[in-house]
Amino acid sequence: MITERPRRNRKSRVIRNLVRETRLPLSALVYPLFITDGTGIRQPIASMPGIFRWSPDLVMEEIRECIGLGIEAFVLFPAFADDQKDTVASLSADPGNFYLRCIRAIKSEFPNCVVMSDVAMDPYSSDGHDGLVRNGEIVNDETLPILARMAVEQARAGVDIIGPSDMMDGRVGAIREALDEAGFTGVCIMSYTAKYASAFYGPFREALDSAPRSGDKKTYQMDPANRREAIREARLDEDEGADMLMVKPALSYLDVIQTIREHSVLPVAAYNVSGEYAMLRAAGERGWIDYRRAVEEVLLSIHRAGAEIILTYFAKEYATWKRDESH
Ligand code: PBG
Repeated sequence: MITERPRRNRKSRVIRNLVRETRLPLSALVYPLFITDGTGIRQPIASMPGIFRWSPDLVMEEIRECIGLGIEAFVLFPAFADDQKDTVASLSADPGNFYLRCIRAIKSEFPNCVVMSDVAMDPYSSDGHDGLVRNGEIVNDETLPILARMAVEQARAGVDIIGPSDMMDGRVGAIREALDEAGFTGVCIMSYTAKYASAFYGPFREALDSAPRSGDKKTYQMDPANRREAIREARLDEDEGADMLMVKPALSYLDVIQTIREHSVLPVAAYNVSGEYAMLRAAGERGWIDYRRAVEEVLLSIHRAGAEIILTYFAKEYATWKRDESH
C-alpha cells in the first residue's frame, strides 16, 4: 500500500500555489542599467537584445517606467569613451563625470528608489582592469585608495548601496573607513563577495567596452572550481563591514549561493549576469525554449538556492509579466 502520495499536493493550480515553498516578489529584484554620456541615446547592445545603453536624460524615463511596474532598485554601470580613460581611473572620482551627475539627477527625481553603484577601475581604466596595473601586475594595496575615493564620490552623489566588484583584498574595509570618515555612515555596501573569473561576463564587457586590454582577471576574481574559498571571502567581507554579500554569476554557482546563505546571517544577493541573460534570449529567439517559462524557472531557482536579492536583466520584463497576470 502507498501511504505517502506527494502528488496530492500537486493536484490543482490552487493547491500547488498553496504549498509553494519559494515565491519571487518584485521587491527582490535589482535592475542593471548601462549609462552613456550624451542626450537622446538609447543604443541597443547586440549580445543583449532588449537591453540598452541609455543617456542620462532617457534613463530617467526608463526608471519611471520600471517604478510604475514595481521595480524600485537599480544598479548603474557607466560606459566611458576610451579617450577619457587613464591608468589611474582619474575620472572615477571627478564629481562632474556623467555617471555621478546621472546618479544625482535620478536621486533628486526619484528619492525613494534605491541606486546601487559599481566600484571597480575597469570602466575608467585604459588597462581595462579592475585594479591598478604596474609592470603587468594588478597591484592590490595601491588600488584601495582609488576605490575608496570613487566610493566616497558615489555616496556624495546619493548612491544608497556601494557595490565593490573589483575583488581586491581589503577593499570593503578601505571603502567602509573612507565612507565613515566622510560622514556617509548610512550608506550600505553590497560586496561582490564571491565573484568568479567567468566566461559569462562577455556581453557586459561588450556593452561597456571594458574588456581587459591584456591578460585576464584570474589573479583577482575567483577560480570557478572553488566553493570553500567563498566562505573565506564572506568571512572577510563581513568582518570588514559589508552589509550584504553577493555571489556572481548566479546559475553555475547555486551551490555557492546556498553555502554563503548557510554561513552568514547577512542578506545574500546573486547577480544573474549578462551571459546568462544572453543564453536564454538567444535560445528563446530561435524558439528552442519557452522563453518566459525558462526565465521564471531560472529566477526562482536563484531565489530557492538562497539569494534574497537578485540582480537581473530580466527584472523589467518579469515585472510586465506579473502585471499582466494580475489583470
Ligand atoms: C566589472 C564588472 C563586471 C560585471 C559587473 N561589474 C565584468 C567584469 O568583471 O569583467 C559583469 C556583469 C555582467 O556580466 O552582467 N567590475
